[in-house]
Amino acid sequence: MCGITGILSIEKREAIKDIVASLGDLEYRGYDSAGVATFSEGEIKIYKCLGAPSQNLHTKEIYSRIGNKARKTSIAIGHNRWATHGTPTLSNAHPHTDCHKELALVHNGTIINYESLKKALKKAGHIFCSDTDTEVIAHQIEEARKIYKSPEEAIVRTLALLEGSFGLAIFFKDYPNTLYLAKNGSPINIGIAKDFFAIASSVNALLRHTDKYISLRDGEFAVLSIKKGLPTSKIINFKNYKSGAIKKEVRKIEGVAPEDLSMGNYNSFMIKEIYEQPSVTKTTMLGRYDEKTGNAIFGGLIDYEEKLQKIHTLYTIACGTAHNAGCLGKEIIEALTDINVRNEIASEFRYKKNNFNAVDTAIFAVSQSGETADTLEAVKEAKQKGCDVFGIINVVGSAIAQESDAGVYTRAGAEIGVASTKAFISQATTFYLLALKLARERLMNVQEGRDFIKKLEEIPNKQKEVLKVEQKIKDIVTKYSKIKNINFLGRGVNVSIANEAALKFKELTYMEVGSYPLGELKHGPMAVIDKECLSVVIMPKDKLFEMNKNSIEQIKSKGGNVLVITDKSARGDSFLKKVDDVIYMPTLTNPLFYPLVEIIPLQLFAVHFANILGKNVDKPRNLAKSVTVE
Ligand code: F6R
Repeated sequence: MCGITGILSIEKREAIKDIVASLGDLEYRGYDSAGVATFSEGEIKIYKCLGAPSQNLHTKEIYSRIGNKARKTSIAIGHNRWATHGTPTLSNAHPHTDCHKELALVHNGTIINYESLKKALKKAGHIFCSDTDTEVIAHQIEEARKIYKSPEEAIVRTLALLEGSFGLAIFFKDYPNTLYLAKNGSPINIGIAKDFFAIASSVNALLRHTDKYISLRDGEFAVLSIKKGLPTSKIINFKNYKSGAIKKEVRKIEGVAPEDLSMGNYNSFMIKEIYEQPSVTKTTMLGRYDEKTGNAIFGGLIDYEEKLQKIHTLYTIACGTAHNAGCLGKEIIEALTDINVRNEIASEFRYKKNNFNAVDTAIFAVSQSGETADTLEAVKEAKQKGCDVFGIINVVGSAIAQESDAGVYTRAGAEIGVASTKAFISQATTFYLLALKLARERLMNVQEGRDFIKKLEEIPNKQKEVLKVEQKIKDIVTKYSKIKNINFLGRGVNVSIANEAALKFKELTYMEVGSYPLGELKHGPMAVIDKECLSVVIMPKDKLFEMNKNSIEQIKSKGGNVLVITDKSARGDSFLKKVDDVIYMPTLTNPLFYPLVEIIPLQLFAVHFANILGKNVDKPRNLAKSVTVE
């Protein structure tokens, strides 16, 4: 949520151009407005626009407004906004400044106590121009500088007053060669290029400059400056300002490839990422199983082998799509082992009593971004209660990955489409491998383990095969484009896929749709069924196939439309003539694996429905990729 970026360079460079490009890379974090600030002709110059930077932020226009001299500068900051406090207007867009334009700052996060700070600042004569929580930080620093001349000290004193989360980048008119950064809850990474620093909320946006970076941790404050022609950095703990500089590890950017950041020949990131799923499934599995022992291998969990052998209870904590992956994980783990799995929504888990026995419980936090505030706080809560927490995380080095005791990276690559697709597949694949590991440590024998691996190895090709149904899906979508209600339905392992399909559909089309275990339909949702309702029933030919026919008969008798997602082995079943439409998936020999294939036509269904409605599938309204607010 919100993307921040910055440049501090030895030689003057076209930093605005760098910032505009980075804001494009970070666009998935927020697209309500964008803005840049630089130091030029002895002044702080700010330019803002509404909407997404890729469409509305153009360097030519920026220079024509703030002057051509800004073309070469040593310092610049930028921001993409996902509005939390105040509507998306130019005055609410970042960067923000103080009363006398002595500083410019960009912020990702939320300041909970901003109202009381604002009240006091107004009383002290500060004039506010926006409704944001962020603007109080600028004025509070201005106020602090009346006492503490040093920007460092003024910022640190201000940070001590803030409650909430922040990733901040700040510079001052009287210190135009210094960039100040602070982190509490929201991410900030410092890219180290040859003669400049590049700052970004996510390492994706650093890749265009460098593959070396430092990641700030909560409570850290960085002062980046140019001294004697060299870029220097000092990082301290802002809660213990006098305790001296912290030595930070310079890391190499991992888990993101430059091609992740471009659409290539596809017309949306959504479609590109859906098509990447067969290779993502392969990459997630790579080196993580041993055909000889019929077992899964997770290097990241090696120190916890003994613990995992003993657990009786496993929790997943996650939000949204990651939660749906956890629910699928529950089905697979419970099908193969005697472990009880509980799926907890992170924002609920945090405030519950949670009576777990830490000794025989393992908690798995699932997150694509590794930044989700609710999940992060739930992880902290679980650890505080003495439980080991393992991450199933996509973004390497992210906050949840750092906070977890150990874990597994899902290796989906950078996911740019705001609605999650390939990250889901990688999380789901990880759960299949985890289930194998837990099962092999319990009742599953070596041959069964080998067989499980064989089935998993077949999945990428089956996923490739199912992608061929795209044209059929387009036709079906055209047919139902005026439909009023849709329910996604399934049983057993397919329920979490029905839930995920409904979530995808809501995000992309903005239509309220339902998802239920198929048997639940008659306990209420059946009231919705009529000729303006479509029921999408996920029913591969498994042991519940015949049972599902009953439920479909009930839907048809109420005049509803039915789209069945099944597999090719059901072809020729005369019952299917009674339904309105059928999508056939390839047949799998073990029905437990269908979720890894059946989600794909449902993702395509959501994308093409949204296309017909004219929605932007990569940037659904009101959403942002990394939800760093609670
Ligand atoms: C749905 C979606 C969200 C995220 C959720 C958790 O398409 O993207 O529901 O899954 O916000 O995000 P992460 O996985 O980053 O913790």
